[in-house]
Amino acid sequence: METLERIKLIYSFTDEDASNLRYLSVIMKSNANDFISGVYSFISNFQDFSKFLPDDEIKNRHQEKLKLWFAGLFSGTYSNEYLRRLKRIGEVHADIKLPSHYVSATMNYIRNYIHDIILKNFQNLDKNKIDELIVSVNKILDINLDIIISSYIDEGKFYIAATKFETKIVKFSSKFSYILDLALIISLIIATIMVFLLFAFEIYDLAFAGGNFETTVVDILGAMLIIWAIRELLEEEVKKLQGHKFALSAFIGLAMAALLRKILIFTLAPRKSTEVAILGFLVLVLGIVYWLMNKSPKS
Ligand code: HEM
Repeated sequence: METLERIKLIYSFTDEDASNLRYLSVIMKSNANDFISGVYSFISNFQDFSKFLPDDEIKNRHQEKLKLWFAGLFSGTYSNEYLRRLKRIGEVHADIKLPSHYVSATMNYIRNYIHDIILKNFQNLDKNKIDELIVSVNKILDINLDIIISSYIDEGKFYIAATKFETKIVKFSSKFSYILDLALIISLIIATIMVFLLFAFEIYDLAFAGGNFETTVVDILGAMLIIWAIRELLEEEVKKLQGHKFALSAFIGLAMAALLRKILIFTLAPRKSTEVAILGFLVLVLGIVYWLMNKSPKS
């Protein structure tokens, strides 16, 4: 979770940097068209340039947005809204599967381009001032690259909080959800132990208390089904704790296992054919949902 204040702190981006960048805005605005032609002649060398920017409509739109982004670098005001826009740029590029190297290489070109403009247009300035301007440009470009590439790495994880209060709430809920996940794992382990006890009890009942052989076999099969489903759930929960996405299909698996267990038990009881038919239908529906969910795991 990030706020602009934190990013500024990390990069030691001060009000001085903001005013340096504002100082450059007039000269940069007058070079905006030249900037676009420079960037485009640079990125047109990328092997699949025309795959990403296939026609004039998309190119024009991109150029307009690139121009706005360029002007934004020198606006001098960098709010959380600015951060959110950068995150969105990263997401748009990630969505079209643009290799992140292309963005980094283009940023490198842009850095050199801006340095050249400063060196050409501010020869009359003190050397220290020129160095300061360049340092501020480097900071804002690094911040841009950082945010854009971060939203490439994990779109879901990268989150920008609007206020400190929001930051606290989100931190609290993520800790709370972590504790809930741990509690769930412990409950699942206890549930597995209980099913194992049931398992042992069935065998004891058969061996020493004269239990019905057929019923015992079916009960044991049912218990094994439940253990298998709980194991799947446990595995998913552990994966979630390790930062992966939770596969909802594990729950569907558990529901199917529970229904199949009931069917196994009902098949032994006389006059239960309607219930068995209903349960069979439910298993069929859950099976279709399970299949659809696993058909395309990414979506
Ligand atoms: C530093 C490098 C780059 C910057 C700052 C940048 C900036 C932007 C911006 C501001 C947008 C609009 C995002 C939105 O809709 O909110 C965008 C979209 C896009 N960018 Fe880039 N871009 C960069 C590099 C590239 C490169 C190297 C390519 C391709 C070779 C590319 C292709 C595209 C495409 C295809 C879109 C979507 C255009 C659309 O359909 O509207 N970008 N970019």
